[in-house]
Amino acid sequence: MKHSQDLNEDVGEILLSEDQIRIKVVELGKRISADYAGRELTLVSVLKGSLPFMADLMRQIDLPLRIDLMEVSSYGGTATESSGLVRILKDLSAPIDDRDVLLVEDIIDTGLTLNYLIRYLRGKNPRSIKVCALLDKPARRLVEIPIDYVGFEIPDAFVVGYGLDFGEVYRNLRFVGVLRPEAYES
Ligand code: IMP
Repeated sequence: MKHSQDLNEDVGEILLSEDQIRIKVVELGKRISADYAGRELTLVSVLKGSLPFMADLMRQIDLPLRIDLMEVSSYGGTATESSGLVRILKDLSAPIDDRDVLLVEDIIDTGLTLNYLIRYLRGKNPRSIKVCALLDKPARRLVEIPIDYVGFEIPDAFVVGYGLDFGEVYRNLRFVGVLRPEAYES
């Protein structure tokens, strides 16, 4: 894959602008703050794609909260297809037993990664566990998982930006866009 020096040139369509994302994150933060009022939250985010979303969302939640980070890699898949086989590269750094956990995800595609993570985290006896995903691609779902907070439902296209990568590039774009086919194929 060869990306352009100006990453914007590889983007065929802007799906979600910086403003749309900002407004949605504020809205999600308000809903979460209201739903968990009087409680303390633990936000668990999954590196690396959820990093910008986590950083923005946590600052829109008006509650005492802790954060923790996991890193997983799915293996056996291709650059754009996940396989469902998940390896934990970085585990939680603190126990979550009896904590209200909100798993913060960038995108739910097949749902296989999330399905694995929820089972894994349930094994650590949290008081509750819910999911907040910025993007949802329901057309590609292979396992049914309830997503408690969704930013945007998007069509079945491979997207980049605002944390999401193709070949580790494009994460720093401030919007979410669809790559031009040339950026995949070359
Ligand atoms: P799932 O297990 O198929 O739901 O895939 C989840 C992970 O695959 C996400 O956390 C992303 O890292 C990656 N992923 C899925 N769809 C996209 C996409 O359109 N662009 C970039 N990464 C994606």
